[in-house]
This record gives sequence, structure tokens and C-alpha cells, in this order.
Amino acid sequence: MSKINKQDGPVAVTGASGYIGSRIVEDLLGQGNDVHACVRDASNVKKVDHLVKLGKDAHNCDVQLYEGDLFEKGSYDDAFSGCISVIHAGATVGFNRETPQEVYDGCFTENEHVVESVKKSGSVKRLVFTSSFAAVAHPRPEGYIFTEEDWCGDNVEAYKGAWTEENISKNRDIAYAMAKANTEKMIYKIAEDDGNFEAISINPLHVIGPLMTENHNQFFSWQFFIWQLLKGNNFGLWDGKQVRGDRMLWNMVDVRDVAKAHRLAAESNIAKNGSRYILSATDRSGEKFTWQLQAKLMELFPDIENIGGEMMDNGRPMKYTYDSPRSYCIKATDELGLSTYSIEDTLKDTGNSYIKIGLL
Ligand SMILES: NC(=O)c1ccc[n+]([C@@H]2O[C@H](COP(=O)([O-])OP(=O)(O)OC[C@H]3O[C@@H](n4cnc5c(N)ncnc54)[C@H](OP(=O)(O)O)[C@@H]3O)[C@@H](O)[C@H]2O)c1
Repeated sequence: MSKINKQDGPVAVTGASGYIGSRIVEDLLGQGNDVHACVRDASNVKKVDHLVKLGKDAHNCDVQLYEGDLFEKGSYDDAFSGCISVIHAGATVGFNRETPQEVYDGCFTENEHVVESVKKSGSVKRLVFTSSFAAVAHPRPEGYIFTEEDWCGDNVEAYKGAWTEENISKNRDIAYAMAKANTEKMIYKIAEDDGNFEAISINPLHVIGPLMTENHNQFFSWQFFIWQLLKGNNFGLWDGKQVRGDRMLWNMVDVRDVAKAHRLAAESNIAKNGSRYILSATDRSGEKFTWQLQAKLMELFPDIENIGGEMMDNGRPMKYTYDSPRSYCIKATDELGLSTYSIEDTLKDTGNSYIKIGLL
């Protein structure tokens, strides 16, 4: 594959209304590609208005909205027909609201419908799937640097009872990770057997960066917790309740880089069936413990009086944070030619988008 030209056919994007999907649509239009934007409800202005506007602002290319639901077989047949590539960024993520089995079904079972529609199209040459770093990570000692060779479920002997099929229905994180890993394996196998298209995955870590609409401020997303820090709440707190752990190592990537990597993977001469690309921090500057992130936000937003972080004592964190996950998007920069935003620009643009939307 090489650069997709308009005459090659449109690119279909599932989950086009979402935080990542919307940026994929924006990036494709910026390159002059027509886009078939797959949404669940084309009449829901809160979710699609920004896509319509992107189409109007684009030069010599267009966005067409197609309705489809991952849970309905054949839902994407029309949308994918005549397309050169499909970028599958839609998922019923739920952000901590569903049972583990529902998480698994929303992120694995329903993907079969997408692949069936890809096969039926006859025109699609690349399927780029938004997997997750969750499909890579597994328990390892602190400081271990994860690469695309890693899979969740590796090293299970050392940590019995973790990332295994039988634990899918017991734990949401395991269900999500296994769903993503199993989807990757499924699509690579189907693509290989089919022979007419290749499947490639993008494995993002903590995605942040500017929101396009208020709807992108999904509860429990990473951008949501950046917003909470900017509102002066310590990490993990929501409505006075500790809704997740109070400290972590943030390994941050810009949503615009994640989006661009999807298109580059659809175009790359080097990527092939089964290639996967971690989208994580470019280097150590994008890996920050919560207290370091707080310090950076204070530097970038001097006008905000109170920025949250974690419990501190004399300028040092009160509790130790496990030093993981460490990973860098080296393969995406080397093979796809991705150049990335600085962490300063990403954080600044994230905060400024909250100000623009009126949430800060
Ligand atoms: N954000 C991250 O940090 C991160 C990290 C790693 C991987 N990912 C993966 O990236 C993908 C996109 O995530 P995101 O952050 O952009 O989430 P998001 O903003 O919630 O977007 C999810 C998208 O999926 C669509 N969707 C949900 N249920 C659907 C269904 N039943 N049928 C069709 N479409 C459906 C949503 O459409 P509606 O607008 O109709 O709800 C929305 O467009 C997901 O696969 C997620 O697992 C995200």
C-alpha cells in the first residue's frame, strides 16, 4: 500500500463520533480523502455536528454519515462498499459501567460483524483496528519496557490467575485486554485466510489531547481525569468518591498522533498483515507520575489556582507508585514515519479545549 488517493476510494471509520474516531476523520480529510463516517445515530447532533462541520470545511473531499451498530450483523455493508480501507475505532467501551462479559462482547464478539462487512466489500485492502495497550501489557517487574512483541497473557505462569480466558467474566480489565488481544488474533487470521485484505492494529496507551466536543468528555476516560486535575481534584476522585486508584504512572500519547498513526498504517509499505503499533509516550518526557503531571500542569496553566495531583508531604509523594507501564512509540515513528506532539503541547491543548468547550 502507499498513500491513499481520493480516486482509490473512500476510507470508512467506525466509531467516527468518538474521541479518537473524530480525529481520524479530521486527519483523513486533511489528506484529501473522502470519509464514510459510521455512527450509531446520524440525527444525534451532539455526536455528529462536528463531523458535518469537518466535512463542510474540507477541501475537495467529503464526509458521508452512515448509520450502523456493532451489535447488528451486516450493519456496515453499505458503509464499507467501495472503500479502500476501514479504520475500526468503534467499541462499546462503557468506561467502567458494564459487567466484564458485556465489556468482552462489546470489544470482541461484535468485531466479527465488522470483518464480515470488510470481506463482503471486496474493495477493502486494509483493516486498521484500534486495539489497546491493554492487549500488550501483563505483569512484569517495575521499569520493564513493553514492545509490540508483548501480549497480555504472556508470563501467566508467574502471575497465575490473571490474563486467562477463564477470568474474562470475573474482571473488567482482563475482559477488555483479552477482547482486544483476541480480536487482533482473529482479524489477522481471517485476513490471512481471505487473502484480499490485511489487518493491522494500533495499540494506544493513555490517550489525551484536545476534545472536539463536550461528548468527548466521557466519564472515566484519561482526558476526563486530566479535566479533574485541572479542576483541583486529586487523581481518581469523582463526586467526592475515589473511583479509581489515587496514583499512577501516566504514559501519555496525543489523540491526534493516535489518529494519524491509523492512516499511516493504512498507507504504509512496511506494515503488513499482523503488524501492530504501540502508541504511547514518545520518550521519557511523556511518562509522568501523577505528582509530576500535576507539576507540569501547574507550569502550563499558571492562571489556574488549584490543580489536583496526589497526596504529598513536603513536596514529595506520600506513597510510592509502581513504575509501570513504560513503553515508547518507537516502531510507529520508525516504520510509519509518525512525528509526535510534545507533551507540553498535548497537555496545553487538552486543557485549552476544556476551556473552549466551557467545562473549565
Ligand atoms: N481513549 C483511550 O485512552 C484508548 C486507549 C486505548 C484504546 N482505546 C480504544 O480506542 C477506541 C475508541 O475509543 P475512544 O476513546 O474514542 O472512545 P469513545 O469516545 O467512547 O468512542 C467510542 C465510539 O464507539 C462508538 N460505539 C459505541 N458502541 C457502539 C455500538 N454498539 N455500535 C457502533 N458504534 C458504537 C461510539 O458511538 P456513539 O457516539 O454512538 O456512542 C463512539 O463513536 C476503542 O476501541 C477503545 O477501546 C482507547
